[in-house]
Amino acid sequence: MNSTLEPSLLKRDDRQPRTESLLASVREFWEQETCGVRYGTGAELSARLREIEETRYRLHPEIPGFARFNEASGKAVLEIGVGAGTDFAQWVRAGAIATGVDLTQAAIEHTKSRLEVEGLAAHNYHLRQANAEHLPFQDDSFDIVYSWGVLHHSPDTQKTLEEAFRVLKPGGQMRIMIYHRRSWTALFYWLRFAVLRGRPFRTFSEVLASHMESPGTKAYTVREASEMLQRAGFAPFSIKPHLYHGDFLDFKLRESRDTFVNRLGQRLAPRSLIRALGHRFGGMLLIEADKPHL
Ligand SMILES: C[S@@+](CC[C@H](N)C(=O)[O-])C[C@H]1O[C@@H](n2cnc3c(N)ncnc32)[C@H](O)[C@@H]1O
Repeated sequence: MNSTLEPSLLKRDDRQPRTESLLASVREFWEQETCGVRYGTGAELSARLREIEETRYRLHPEIPGFARFNEASGKAVLEIGVGAGTDFAQWVRAGAIATGVDLTQAAIEHTKSRLEVEGLAAHNYHLRQANAEHLPFQDDSFDIVYSWGVLHHSPDTQKTLEEAFRVLKPGGQMRIMIYHRRSWTALFYWLRFAVLRGRPFRTFSEVLASHMESPGTKAYTVREASEMLQRAGFAPFSIKPHLYHGDFLDFKLRESRDTFVNRLGQRLAPRSLIRALGHRFGGMLLIEADKPHL
């Protein structure tokens, strides 16, 4: 890992200023475009929200089975990194006592307007801007902590896991997705941004930190994820690599990335081979981790 971007490997004294400036860059990145909204193209807000939702669960059919929204009635749920609020709306619809946080104001506003458009009463949920590394909640507050594609963007991912553990009630469960480094996705980024740029000595971690979504994005091996969960105190836990549309390069490119080379890469992705090798080299790690009873 690149030590500029992996604060948990820095000396304690070095961590604070670097993680703060990186966190500001992460926030700036996600303020510019809330995750998932590019899939909403209709003129009317409600049509756009429908489109965003349909696309999300078409591209990520694994989410409902993993999150188990429908079992959340009456449970205290915290979602970290709500983004456009599509999953958050599911928790609210399912009757959870739902709390959502995100680093950006844009995501909180987007999520609020989704819930308003759906006519979901504001007293059914609580949303606020907050940093996953310092959750503004008391110990032992939630039955479920859920987070999809978020914690690897935070400069100190270990701290976010410790915070998730702290705010979970004993016996509660964390369900998160973070990126997997031994994956097709990481390989494609490396081919594109290291090999094609004549710098094959760059590591997967360096390439992902510089080119995948917000600055400093990380991806973990199963072993690294397991060590982080153990350090945070979770037991038992399961970590499953999972193949997703990103591994097939099936996604809509950001405007700034919509180039001939990237489109060619999308056309040439060896989809049959990727499918044949199964989930082992999938780009996502699906993690369920329990906070032990006292
Ligand atoms: C890739 S998007 C995922 C959003 C949503 N979970 C989804 O699946 O569409 C990452 C989100 O994480 C948020 N985020 C990044 N770092 C965070 C942090 N330290 N605390 C809270 N939210 C964070 C970003 O603002 C952004 O909305």
